[in-house]
Amino acid sequence: MANAAVHAVDDEVEAPAKRDFLKILTVSAGAVALGATAWPFINALNPTAAELAVSNPIIDVGAIAPNTAMRIVWLGQPIYIRKLTPQQIADNEYIVPDTLPDPASYTDRVKPGYESFVVVVGLNTGISCELLGNSPTDPRGPFDGWSCPCDGSVYDPLGRVRGGPARKNLAIPRFTFLSDTQIQFG
Ligand code: FES
Repeated sequence: MANAAVHAVDDEVEAPAKRDFLKILTVSAGAVALGATAWPFINALNPTAAELAVSNPIIDVGAIAPNTAMRIVWLGQPIYIRKLTPQQIADNEYIVPDTLPDPASYTDRVKPGYESFVVVVGLNTGISCELLGNSPTDPRGPFDGWSCPCDGSVYDPLGRVRGGPARKNLAIPRFTFLSDTQIQFG
């Protein structure tokens, strides 16, 4: 009789424990199944390699000659990558920022360690036209940078506005130097 009572107490203790274990097992299995079902949909949201290549392009800038600029299109905008000459660096390095319409120092406009490269969005900040000046034979204006002959806005080789109706410097896109000859955008 007493043994039967002990077994009954053991069963009462064991049964909920078994139930809990089965509950946890069922819930875990359900979660795994749900995850396995949902993952392909979640993974489809990840950008493909091709999409990443478009949104974060890597550009070889090794062939850009001093005093010229390469033009690419990134996210629908013209991007100018210009290589400065030593003279252009010397002419612009010590300009007092506060004397400019949109104050910016030399170091504000270039990446540390890559001071001979300037990377800007090539759109006039006044009337949003595409500026001229990538080639040394283009009309660059009095500061040897970029210009809009139509509205008279002129920029220096660092893309700082120096005259005309435009009041803002050329925008600088998000980019990183991967090496001396490679830039990644985004
Ligand atoms: S409108 Fe800017 S170059 Fe003509």
